Amino acid sequence: MTVAVANRKGGVGKSTTSYSLAVDLGYGYISNQKNFALEKKQGKPIYEFARYDEEMEDIYERCVYDFAGWENNPKVLHIAKESDILIVPTTDDIDGIKGAISAINELGQHCKNIAVVIINVPRDEFNEIKKSIEKNSKFELHFTHIPNTKIARYIKKDGKSYMQLKKEKRFTNWWTDSGVFREYETLLKKINSIQEEKGK
Ligand SMILES: Nc1ncnc2c1ncn2[C@@H]1O[C@H](COP(=O)(O)OP(=O)(O)O)[C@@H](O)[C@H]1O
Ligand SMILES: [Mg+2]
Repeated sequence: MTVAVANRKGGVGKSTTSYSLAVDLGYGYISNQKNFALEKKQGKPIYEFARYDEEMEDIYERCVYDFAGWENNPKVLHIAKESDILIVPTTDDIDGIKGAISAINELGQHCKNIAVVIINVPRDEFNEIKKSIEKNSKFELHFTHIPNTKIARYIKKDGKSYMQLKKEKRFTNWWTDSGVFREYETLLKKINSIQEEKGK
């Protein structure tokens, strides 16, 4: 089971989403860009199964690939094609939405499962962005809405996943009630169901 996370645009939640998913699935995390997930905290790696790989040549089972750019790297494209699910995050940024559509249309024909994760927007805007992405792609898409949340900050700062942060119960009701954990869990369930199907 291999998970690819991609968008042509940066700053759309790729690393936050892919890192958190890797931790919650107990998968490896591989990125071709040095970011918070590859950092050390008090001399220890923030996540022991996180790796930096500039080339991203090899396909590993039980791994989440955080693609910070893939244009000039055919090997990266190869991994995306071999993945069991392609996850495409976007914000309301117009270039992020365009980047999501190109990721879906360029890589989607090779992927059996595509999930679009729209982050950092209110519900009505989520619905609008969802419609415009559906209109511009010919594939069946699974959508997740991760609203604006301060929790995302702690993923980067402390190297913790959404589910680890949920367990800590250090957030006020407002944060938990905004549905972030619930929405994120639907994405986790989707991945788990693909994995179960594959195992059959
Ligand atoms: N649901 C969210 N709500 C608010 N901010 C978010 C959310 N998800 C991610 N972010 C923030 O958005 C910024 C960009 O995210 P990042 O995962 O680094 O994007 P990318 O890897 O695509 O460049 C980060 O500062 C991150 O903390
Ligand atoms: Mg990133």
